[in-house]
Amino acid sequence: MRAALRRVHLYPDGASYELKKRLSQEFSLPAEQFIIGNGSNEIIELLARGFLSEGDRIVSSENTFLVYPLIAKTCGASYTAVLMKNFRYDLRGILDAIDDRTRIIFIANPNNPTGTYVKTEEVEDFLSKVPKHVIVCFDEAYIDFVDAKDFPYLLFHVKANKPNIILLRTFSKSFGLAGLRIGYGMASKEMIEYLGKVRQPFNVNRLAQIGACAALDDRRFLWRSKRLVSRGRLYFYRKLTKMKLTFVPSEANFVLIDVKRDAKKVCEALLKRGMIVRAMNAYGLPSYIRVTIGTRFELMRFIHLLKVVLKKEDGKK
Ligand SMILES: Cc1ncc(COP(=O)(O)O)c(C=O)c1O
Repeated sequence: MRAALRRVHLYPDGASYELKKRLSQEFSLPAEQFIIGNGSNEIIELLARGFLSEGDRIVSSENTFLVYPLIAKTCGASYTAVLMKNFRYDLRGILDAIDDRTRIIFIANPNNPTGTYVKTEEVEDFLSKVPKHVIVCFDEAYIDFVDAKDFPYLLFHVKANKPNIILLRTFSKSFGLAGLRIGYGMASKEMIEYLGKVRQPFNVNRLAQIGACAALDDRRFLWRSKRLVSRGRLYFYRKLTKMKLTFVPSEANFVLIDVKRDAKKVCEALLKRGMIVRAMNAYGLPSYIRVTIGTRFELMRFIHLLKVVLKKEDGKK
């Protein structure tokens, strides 16, 4: 990337040729089945711009990635958020919500902010029932952190060129390149070609393309990142259980915790002590906070500060 800095006066490769070639080797999938985006967020937007007209419908879940309803709004589409079951996507409920204006279903797997996932068996049954006119987008931003054995690996559907399935991945999470803004989608050649028509010609900058190629070669970083999260989650569960706090077991790099009080107040108190975590009020979960798994030191510090803050809050009662 340092060498590439000397060439930033030049436009990037609009086709992201090298990165697609590298991804093609990685997944044994033809380069024409990849689209590269300015973060996977951009691909979510391209899907909406490419496939939605006013009055069409996006179906997803409650307590999921906030960009999905946002994107629906910008396209004049309606948005149905199907209720979750025990903090998990309800795929049967989603099937029931499909009508003839439904164009796209978004499934964040694992989900943000719950960290829960839909299982192989459920997904296969679901896919066999989804009408062909509906695009199913599996947003797999957190897939590298998954340990669960029954997590669905859906690439074979893309390899079979299924026309209505797209998988989204990103370099923002396990690869630690959020600031570069780069992600990708894998889908049938036809869908990728169509999405290519609605994207800007130089949507992905030069440094991001080079950084992503380098990241794919840095196996050690990815392995360490996965290990940090996997061990961090278990450490976290132990500590939270000891504190008698309930949490949602997660396959992502964050954990949703019920602090049993106004989450906003807890977050503000933590912020005053130099710790930023997210209150889940915007998701309709006013007693929950979402905490990202950091280094062991950061987690220890968080647990210490949480104890201090909760004790102080209890003292006020
Ligand atoms: C479920 C989900 N999808 C996509 C994204 C966006 O990732 P990117 O940085 O690639 O745009 C996020 C980021 O928080 C996310 O949580």
